[in-house]
Amino acid sequence: MEHFNRRKGALYAQNYPCSELAEEFGTPLFVYSRDALEQGWLEFSDALEKQPHLICYAVKANSNLAVLDVLARLGSGFDIVSGGELKRVLAAGADPEKIVFSGVGKTVSELTEALEIGIRCFNVESEAELDRLANIAKALDVVAPVSLRVNPDVDAQTHPYISTGLKENKFGINMLDAVSVYKRAADMPSIDIQGMDCHIGSQLTSIEPYKDAMERLITLVDELSDAGIHLKHLDVGGGQGISYEDESALDIKEWAACVIDAIGQRDLEILVEPGRYIAGPAGILLTRVEYLKSNEDKHFAVVDAAMNDLIRPALYSAWQSIEAVEPGNAVEKQYDVVGPICESSDFLGKDRSLAIEQGDLLAVMSAGAYGFVMSSNYNTRPRAAEVMVSGDDAYVVRERENVEDLFADESLLP
Ligand code: LLP
Repeated sequence: MEHFNRRKGALYAQNYPCSELAEEFGTPLFVYSRDALEQGWLEFSDALEKQPHLICYAVKANSNLAVLDVLARLGSGFDIVSGGELKRVLAAGADPEKIVFSGVGKTVSELTEALEIGIRCFNVESEAELDRLANIAKALDVVAPVSLRVNPDVDAQTHPYISTGLKENKFGINMLDAVSVYKRAADMPSIDIQGMDCHIGSQLTSIEPYKDAMERLITLVDELSDAGIHLKHLDVGGGQGISYEDESALDIKEWAACVIDAIGQRDLEILVEPGRYIAGPAGILLTRVEYLKSNEDKHFAVVDAAMNDLIRPALYSAWQSIEAVEPGNAVEKQYDVVGPICESSDFLGKDRSLAIEQGDLLAVMSAGAYGFVMSSNYNTRPRAAEVMVSGDDAYVVRERENVEDLFADESLLP
């Protein structure tokens, strides 16, 4: 059975009716399915079963402690990008030995903290960062495990804002400079070269960009090996795409076969950093219709969720399915589903066929990744509550914010 499924037309999260979740916990509400999270993670572990590997869930996709806890219990590693994410994964019980640290702007205090904790690897994105890390490690009298993030200059064929593997992007070290940076790193006593890292973009639904990237990475791995630098792991990043509209999700078995093929007989552990593939389909956003209104050209459904809750449509023109939670008798019309925020970009979907009335519940599907984590308090809107369905029960895993807390840290002038 699907984790979000229909019974007599009504939407359920596992065995829990979504209408009851909305009654009990209010709207807007993010609802996560534990089974769906586990299934996404297990697809990677099954596909890589025969290889030495480590799945490092990309925490940025959904960093709720309960989500991290579910994955940590499966034995997951984590890909973090800030000191904040480091604290979160440790609070959720992550094993430091399974944490990799990505990101172009790691600060001195972030590097220091991660070195003190003893994480698995730093994915270093520039020569300047390598120097900074080497100095801190030396001062602490430790050795920093490092992999260099190289930028293979491949087109990920995805939205330009979420494409990261082109020369014009800020990420990683240029392929042409990589060998010389590795050689410098090899001469640094406080640096221990562990591997190579790469992430070419997000929401990739075709295997080709991965093939291109793997070919380039492996050429570089061999070049390094000829120069006496032997890597232990290859971190192939995340980016595995899911189905939002009519695109098919990336086939994880096919993706794994592509990586395994490219590595061949080389003795390299595979690291992978999936975020969206695991968290995206595991969550929905429930919202209630406040008003319906029409003019001569358009019908609008004004709902109680807004761009501050889910910014993907406004930011990337992202399309996410919007469905009525309960079947109704209303006449089907084309609606723009919009929020209460004072911006024309405040929409969740445009031109959606819906048979709805005021007070009905809608579900924005595939909202588990880059949903709550990108939410804000714009218009002094408290952020939504988050609920996880586990077995037959639903647990609040983040309380709804209350308005007083939003300005509690502000002060009037004396
Ligand atoms: N590893 C690195 C180094 C990354 O930068 C990212 C995502 C991931 C892994 C995980 O990528 P995923 O498997 O989730 O595609 N906010 C955008 C997506 C931004 C992705 C940023 N980096 C969105 O809502 O579409």
